[in-house]
Amino acid sequence: MTKIIVMTDIHITSEGDQIIGLDPLERFQTVRDVAQRDHPDASLMILMGDLTHHGKLDQYQRLEGILSTQSGRTFLMLGNHDVRDTFREIFADTATDRDGFVQGIIDLPQHQLIMLDTKDGPFGHHAGRLCDKRLAWLKEALTTTGDRIPLVFMHHPPFKTGIIGMDNINLENGDAVLDMIAPYKSAHLFCGHIHRTISGSTRGVAWTMFKSPCHQGVLDFTDPDSSLSVDEAGSYGLLLLTPDGVVAHSQDVGISQEIWRDTGSKSD
Ligand SMILES: [Fe+2]
Repeated sequence: MTKIIVMTDIHITSEGDQIIGLDPLERFQTVRDVAQRDHPDASLMILMGDLTHHGKLDQYQRLEGILSTQSGRTFLMLGNHDVRDTFREIFADTATDRDGFVQGIIDLPQHQLIMLDTKDGPFGHHAGRLCDKRLAWLKEALTTTGDRIPLVFMHHPPFKTGIIGMDNINLENGDAVLDMIAPYKSAHLFCGHIHRTISGSTRGVAWTMFKSPCHQGVLDFTDPDSSLSVDEAGSYGLLLLTPDGVVAHSQDVGISQEIWRDTGSKSD
């Protein structure tokens, strides 16, 4: 069974800078190390955007440094906190589409992984958008899916979650994207951006989103502030690609997992 480690919103800062008292690089390293320790057979790691906090050169360099210490294939995606040109300066080998967007396809025997670049506008513009070129690219990608199961990855959710601070900066043309995916009944969509583990379906498309290895979002349906964050356990996602679908696990990394490992505690 194919295993894929998924992490989103790692938000690497410049050295010495923290986010709500947390060091994103340290948190990413801890969560990644646990994920790789527990799933050495994972064939791929996907980082679903907001690779850095400010899209700065030194922040991408810090990420490059930490990724250079691991083996195995990694696919890097962009989010609203990234800067495409600066990212490409450091990760010059990253494949892009014909228009220079950081999106690509990984073809597997029973699944097709489609990674989208939803970054829109200059740094500081937090909503996402798939422009006409990227929409056309997605449409073309889906036509090559055949009998396989399309798994689509994008930073910005193309739907509302009820968390209004984040809904105000989601994918602006989400309906167009969902309506493109909806005819593929076995498709599943994976997102980040909200820093919470949520699942649901919208316009006929099933979706899952994952927490961050670092700071998490809050369950508040009234405050329009999109920066509300809380120090909860860091987390990674683990996808099991089955012959007839996909199973999405979310694993917090922290004391509970270590207690289980040390004592073998059982509930009965
Ligand atoms: Fe984020």
